[in-house]
Amino acid sequence: MSSTSNTIKEYVQACTVTLRDGTVLPSLGQGTWHMGDDSGLRQQEIEALRTGLDCGMTVIDTAEMYGGGKAEELVGEAVKGRREEAFLVSKVLPNNAGGKKLEEACEGSLSRLGVDQLDLYLLHWRGSIPLKETVRDMEKLKADGKIKRWGVSNLDVRDMKELLSLEHGNNAVCDQVLYHLASRGIEFDLMPWMKEQQMPVIAYCPLDQGGGRTLGESRTLQEIAERRSMTPLQIALAWTIQSGMVLSIPKTSNPAHVRENAGAASVTLANEELEMLDRAFPKPQTKQPLDIV
Ligand SMILES: NC(=O)c1ccc[n+]([C@@H]2O[C@H](COP(=O)([O-])OP(=O)(O)OC[C@H]3O[C@@H](n4cnc5c(N)ncnc54)[C@H](OP(=O)(O)O)[C@@H]3O)[C@@H](O)[C@H]2O)c1
Repeated sequence: MSSTSNTIKEYVQACTVTLRDGTVLPSLGQGTWHMGDDSGLRQQEIEALRTGLDCGMTVIDTAEMYGGGKAEELVGEAVKGRREEAFLVSKVLPNNAGGKKLEEACEGSLSRLGVDQLDLYLLHWRGSIPLKETVRDMEKLKADGKIKRWGVSNLDVRDMKELLSLEHGNNAVCDQVLYHLASRGIEFDLMPWMKEQQMPVIAYCPLDQGGGRTLGESRTLQEIAERRSMTPLQIALAWTIQSGMVLSIPKTSNPAHVRENAGAASVTLANEELEMLDRAFPKPQTKQPLDIV
């Protein structure tokens, strides 16, 4: 590995979040939605994930839903021989989130990933199976050694309060929700509440799915990026993790983009820059419905 990669890795390792069970993780991880969809990109995507590991972005987020299991298989190939370096997160579909179905779904994910245990297993979103059953059976998977810990995704404050009121519900270690500069709704209530619970947010779509018009064309992001010789997306990504409360999981199939994203860990935005971003992307003043994709 080059000395440049070592420096990037040091920056990535220096930005961390702490899960509710005390586990410390780097604030920049890797997403995998749509990976494995295009067989022509397979080797490049495996290389991208391995480059991410080289850079210290050890949290890899996947789901049984992604490509009907193809993303998990690709992740399995990427972490072959490097299992100990990776922190593997997968998600169960709501219809499978209880009883025998949960056990089978977890076995399926383990088998596609080629591992014995998931580091974190998330309920992908709330469905019709009562949370009480999901919690009970997540705890069973934990007792059986199939998963190390569990959490949830796409739950807003009301659902989170209900979850934590259940027996063993407060063993949930995180909530994974959509969060980026142009979608700050959770700052109004979910984030402050999670902070009180000492529970980090896992931010999905931290680049607003590649920037598009919201981030890519922002004059403010461009101005800050130019001053720092960075890219606007690096600034946008750095912004998501600066609070120390957020673990962001940008997805990229491109190893050069992986290094670029890892470089965001080297940025600490100054108050003046944060204020500029607040003007361009205002904080929510009222309750917003949870943003989803
Ligand atoms: N829990 C949930 O319900 C949920 C929902 C959505 C997503 N997720 C998770 O969160 C992850 C991230 O979300 P996402 O994939 O939807 O969106 P994202 O990470 O915000 O954006 C991904 C897009 O950004 C591009 N990109 C990444 N880095 C770039 C860079 N440095 N320069 C230019 N383009 C760049 C990627 O293209 P290239 O590949 O060409 O670089 C891809 O098109 C997912 O992969 C998944 O693991 C969870």
